[in-house]
Amino acid sequence: MTTSETTINGIQYETHEHDVLVIGAGGAGLRAAIEASAQGLSVALVCKSLLGKAHTVMAEGGCAASMGYVDSADGWETHFKDTMHGGKFLNNWRMAQIHAQEAPERVRELERWGAVFDRTPDGKIQQRPFGGHTYRRLCHVGDHTGLEMIRTLQDKGVHSGMDIFMEATITDLIKDGDRISGAFGYWRESGRFVVFKAKAVILATGGLGKTFKITSGSWEYTGDGFAMGYRAGAELIDMEFVQFHPTGMVWPNGVRGILVTEAVRGEGGRLFNSLGERFMEKVDPARMELSTRDIVAKGIYKEVTEGRGSPHGGVFLDISHRGADYIRKKLPGMYRQLLEFADVDITKGPMEVGPTTHYTMGGLKVDPETAMTTVPGLFAAGEVAAGLHGANRLGGNSLSDLIVFGRRAGLGAKQFIDANPTAPVVSDERIAVAARRASSFFDRDQGENPYTIHGELQEMMQDKVGIVRTDESLGDALSRIEDFRKRAANVAITGTRTFNPGWHLAIDLENMLTCAEALALCARQRTESRGGHTRLDHEGYDDHWSKTTSTIKRGDNGEMVLGQQPLDPLPADLKPLFEGDVGVPGAIKANNKL
Ligand code: FUM
Repeated sequence: MTTSETTINGIQYETHEHDVLVIGAGGAGLRAAIEASAQGLSVALVCKSLLGKAHTVMAEGGCAASMGYVDSADGWETHFKDTMHGGKFLNNWRMAQIHAQEAPERVRELERWGAVFDRTPDGKIQQRPFGGHTYRRLCHVGDHTGLEMIRTLQDKGVHSGMDIFMEATITDLIKDGDRISGAFGYWRESGRFVVFKAKAVILATGGLGKTFKITSGSWEYTGDGFAMGYRAGAELIDMEFVQFHPTGMVWPNGVRGILVTEAVRGEGGRLFNSLGERFMEKVDPARMELSTRDIVAKGIYKEVTEGRGSPHGGVFLDISHRGADYIRKKLPGMYRQLLEFADVDITKGPMEVGPTTHYTMGGLKVDPETAMTTVPGLFAAGEVAAGLHGANRLGGNSLSDLIVFGRRAGLGAKQFIDANPTAPVVSDERIAVAARRASSFFDRDQGENPYTIHGELQEMMQDKVGIVRTDESLGDALSRIEDFRKRAANVAITGTRTFNPGWHLAIDLENMLTCAEALALCARQRTESRGGHTRLDHEGYDDHWSKTTSTIKRGDNGEMVLGQQPLDPLPADLKPLFEGDVGVPGAIKANNKL
């Protein structure tokens, strides 16, 4: 690693040089950095927030892996099949296969590194049921599994010799010809510019929840990786597929959207409408509350819009029948969260819940084996990468995704560097362009306020590109986005670059607008309803779209180009696994229609 301080054309910046730059320090970023380090590479791990403050902690209920400790019949084949069924067969089959095959070893590795999972009476890792998983498969730590994973990976990471840079926002990737060569950003506190040079870059920047009004994500979740990858020429796929987790808090307003883990349903929680009916009986009688998230979320949406919702616009989720001791032991975080925020004691009565924007199945297209995007030397892992989850992710599959494909991205970077050992160039010209883009908001004395535009964008996305969509709502969304773009180009920021949250948001806003446009374009193109994408004007699956992926590329003139690609067909040796599958009665119908 080398560090230096430079000034060109009046732009002052510091430079750090490593073999690999990992952007994002959640589970995928940490696991990738650990692997690259273990391969003997020098690694910089950069995060926008403080280390440990990552959305990995928002996967609370568990990490899906077919250990077979609780249900011995489980194996990778069943996990693979469940993932493909859950994703409505839009998944990249090879990613789903790798994920199911490698997840158990990655969990055992975490345990060796110190993760303290809940235990069965005979001392094995405890596994709980979750929606869409045939067997009890979710390895967990109460209701804070993601937090324990982050703690473990952080411990391992800081002892692996990598350089960790916190509170640094990366604004642009830099290329040398076609190949990635580094990234440009700023320190959030001082606003000073920083350049990272690297032979390979791994994006692990998470999702785009903050593009919507109601989300389980927090301020970091602004779609930076999707937008930076796209600007650098990488292809995006499946952007229409957003996961609305069925159970977020619906009140008080200040905490609306905060996650109520699926583990509440996994541990026996039941959903009721205002008439006291267990409405999942109508929607998916075989799986009830443990149906897949897309189906449960739409079931709740229907109850609320048809006037059978709870007082604050959700439905009731009740676990109190399991008894206070059990609830406090298995769901301690939920017990405290609901008591402190909503003054509800979940050991005594129901909580109110409703759908919240939680996850993006779409993202950067990656090679299943190496996690490399379509830009040489640029890798992506975790939520920012697409393919594994298809049209709908099964709960618990994100934590296993992070560790399986985080590791593969680290290995992929090593392979790439071995094949391309010469350090690429980060030119002064590219640095100047990136610095100019980041500072342009200070050019005007008067103009738009980024907070106003962001608030309006979130309202609009929730309303027009949310849980249900139509051609008309998506057309409206696209013209509103065009208008937001014009207004965003006229944002004025006062003050200096030294800790200036308005400036930070102005930069994030451009990323969110890119994501919003990609999402609305893909959603308008897909004239069917599948998984996380529901079109009121196109109910049910469509044959063409069953075999087709939506794509987004940057055109030669900087315009967004929407396209389609045929899906990779399932190979002959995996087809027998699905023979005779009729799916779960009621599930397909429920998914097809609202
Ligand atoms: O509900 C949850 O605990 C979330 C898990 C996940 O998104 O995988």
